[in-house]
Amino acid sequence: MSLKTILTLGIETSCDETAAAVIADGKQILSNVIASQVDLHQRFGGVVPEIAARKHIETIFPVIDQALMDADVALTEIDLIAVTYGPGLVGGLLVGLQAAKSLAFALNKPLIGVNHIEGHIYANILANPELEPPFVCLTASGGHTDLLYISEFGYYDIMGRTRDDAAGEAFDKIARVLGLPYPGGPQIDRLAKQGNRNAIEFPRGLAGDDTFDFSFSGLKTAALNYLNRAKQMGAEIHIPDFAASFQWAIVDVLASKVIRAAREKDVKQIILSGGVAANSSLRAQVQALAEPLGIKVLFPPPVLCTDNAAMIASAGHFKHLAGYSHGWDLNAVPNLRLE
Ligand code: KG4
Ligand code: ZN
Repeated sequence: MSLKTILTLGIETSCDETAAAVIADGKQILSNVIASQVDLHQRFGGVVPEIAARKHIETIFPVIDQALMDADVALTEIDLIAVTYGPGLVGGLLVGLQAAKSLAFALNKPLIGVNHIEGHIYANILANPELEPPFVCLTASGGHTDLLYISEFGYYDIMGRTRDDAAGEAFDKIARVLGLPYPGGPQIDRLAKQGNRNAIEFPRGLAGDDTFDFSFSGLKTAALNYLNRAKQMGAEIHIPDFAASFQWAIVDVLASKVIRAAREKDVKQIILSGGVAANSSLRAQVQALAEPLGIKVLFPPPVLCTDNAAMIASAGHFKHLAGYSHGWDLNAVPNLRLE
C-alpha cells in the first residue's frame, strides 16, 4: 500500500515577489508561481514597502489560484499551508499570513510559519532531493548573509554573518549609483562578464582568518569614493571593469570563507542559497576552490535562488513532519533571525 502524498501550499510575500507554490512530499514541485513587482519599484531604485504591501493584497489570491491550477490540485486536496512569517517587510508578511490563516482555517488544515532564510536553504533540497547533511551553507541575499554549519536538518550552527550590509544589498546599492535598474545584482553579474576583475583594487572586509563574519560597508564606501573621484576629475569610468572588480571583492571573500568553513568542519559538501547564489562568478569561484579539495558544491537553479514559495512549502513540509505547527496567533516577525 502506498503512503498518501502530502500536498503543501506555500505562500511567500516577504519582499517584492508575490509567490505561491504547490509541492508534493516536500521535494517535488507541482507549481511555482512568482508574480514579481520589480517593474513597480524600479523607478524608485528599490522596494517601497507600502507599494509592495498594496500590490501583494491585489495579487495574492490570483497567484494562489494560479498555483493550484498549474498543479492541477483542488484547494480541498491541500494537506498543509506554509507561509513566510519573517524576516521581511511587515506589510507584505501580514498579507501572506492573513491569506494563509484564512485558508488553513476554512480548510481545517495545519498552518506552519517558515523563516524565509530557512526557506532559501530548502531550495537546495528541491534542486537536489538526495541532499543529506552534514554541509556548510552560505545563504546570501538582499537582506542577509549567513554562513552556517548544518549537521542535521533544522539545526543551524551560525558560523558567521554580516556585521553591516547584506551581500545583495551591496550589489543593489552600487548598481543604483551606476544608474542600473533594480535589482542590481544580476546587472553587475552581466556587466562583470565583459570586465577585468583585477582592474581596480577594492578592500576585502574582514578577510582575515580570525572570523567567519562578513562586512561590506567598507567596500561600498570605497566603490562610492572611486566613482565620486572619477566624476570630480572628469575621468571616464570603464563600467565593466568597475563591475567586475566590485563583484570580485565580494565573491573573493564569500568564496574563501565558505571554503575555510568547510575545511574547519571537515565536510565534503557546500551548498549556496539566496539571491546572491545566482551569481555566476560566486558559483564558479566556490567550485574552483572546492574541486581540488574533493568538496562537492551544490546550488539551486537561479529561479529557486531568488524568492519563491516552493522553498517555503518545502521547509514547511519538513518542519511539520518534525512536529512543528502554528496557531492563529502566528504573527509577522520582520527581523526574525535564524537560530
Ligand atoms: O533572495 P532574494 O530574491 O531576496 C531576498 O531575500 O533579499 O535576493 C535578492 C538579492 C538582490 O539583492 C539581488 O540583487 C541579488 O539577490 N541577486 C544577485 C544576483 N541575482 C540576484 N546578486 C548577484 N548576482 C546575481 N546574479
Ligand atoms: Zn529571499
